[in-house]
Amino acid sequence: MSTHKFIRAVSTVVLMCVPFVVHAQSKFAIGTPASEREIKGWDIDVSPNGAGLPAGGGSVAEGGKLYAAKCAACHGAKGEGKPADRLVGGQGTLKAAAPVKTIGSFWPYATTVFDYVYRAMPYSAPQSLSANETYALTAYLLHMNGILGAEATLDAASLAKIRMPNRDGFVGDGRPDTGNLPCRSECK
Ligand code: HEC
Repeated sequence: MSTHKFIRAVSTVVLMCVPFVVHAQSKFAIGTPASEREIKGWDIDVSPNGAGLPAGGGSVAEGGKLYAAKCAACHGAKGEGKPADRLVGGQGTLKAAAPVKTIGSFWPYATTVFDYVYRAMPYSAPQSLSANETYALTAYLLHMNGILGAEATLDAASLAKIRMPNRDGFVGDGRPDTGNLPCRSECK
């Protein structure tokens, strides 16, 4: 086929597609722009510094009741674990041969306990907890780990101020980022 003919053939095919595409958009339009309310439903991440924590609050006492009803079956009555992760204890064991890693001994921030529970727990019904319930549960978990007193309450401001025992236990990886370029010869 000559170049000229080829270009004509291709442009004919392209032109034939145009009405179809336009038609497809009006007939099979897929998706709608997400509304602000919909985005808000997904935008639940909480940063270590507390940014993103929702309004609300809860107490250790409320959290205790919620924990017994919604968490103890998997994490044990006192957070001792089994069948799921242990949530309490282990402080001071991180350098031992068999470190016990819990939110109390290992996690560097309390804010991300809120984030995790709000997003992922209870395992059987994630995102079913209200913000108030999650504050209460976080308060109770911290109380069981000896980080908060029995009378304590938590909200966005007080949660962000908590300093976890292992706050300084993580170190940055000082190695520079390197590209993963394939090497064929004289590789170092
Ligand atoms: C049906 C069982 C089940 C229930 C109920 C449940 N969890 Fe969990 N939980 C799990 C499992 C399994 C994991 C580990 C998930 C993973 O590693 O992906 C987990 C992990 C966690 C962790 C992270 C532990 C760590 O150190 O990494 C926290 C915190 C937690 N759950 C809190 C809660 C709270 C609070 C509730 C009650 C609202 C709850 N869970 C209810 C099964 C459960």
